[in-house]
Amino acid sequence: MTNSSTRRTVLATGVATLAVGCMGCSNSGKSSGSAASPTAAASPTKSPGAPAGRALTSTADIPVGGGKIFKVQKIVVTQPKKGEFKAFSAICTHEGCTVARVADGTIDCPCHGSKFRVADGSVAHGPAMKPLPAKHITVEGNSIRVV
Ligand code: FES
Repeated sequence: MTNSSTRRTVLATGVATLAVGCMGCSNSGKSSGSAASPTAAASPTKSPGAPAGRALTSTADIPVGGGKIFKVQKIVVTQPKKGEFKAFSAICTHEGCTVARVADGTIDCPCHGSKFRVADGSVAHGPAMKPLPAKHITVEGNSIRVV
């Protein structure tokens, strides 16, 4: 009697466990779109040693005391002193033309003659009143990257 009673208890417990397990299965089946998605939709992993930003140019392409305009990216990269790199928006703060030339220590706008200093983007000659906004870059080895 004791053995049979124990067997029934084990069977009943097993059935109950299966029932709970099935509820869990059907539940997760219904909600697979919502419960599993946040984990699956997590942003792609970035390896910790990967360089920040996207490569823009090489340090060798930026003349000392001058700079280079990247029209597609709308960025001017300058090198006021050897090894010191700066970046600014290439959009003139006067009326929005794209700057066209870097010469004699200034970044020049062709539309109305504004000039901005390569060292800090400040106005050297109007009519622009505001400096070119700085852009964040990083230099890793010989590569200049836009963050
Ligand atoms: Fe550049 Fe006017 S838009 S000087």
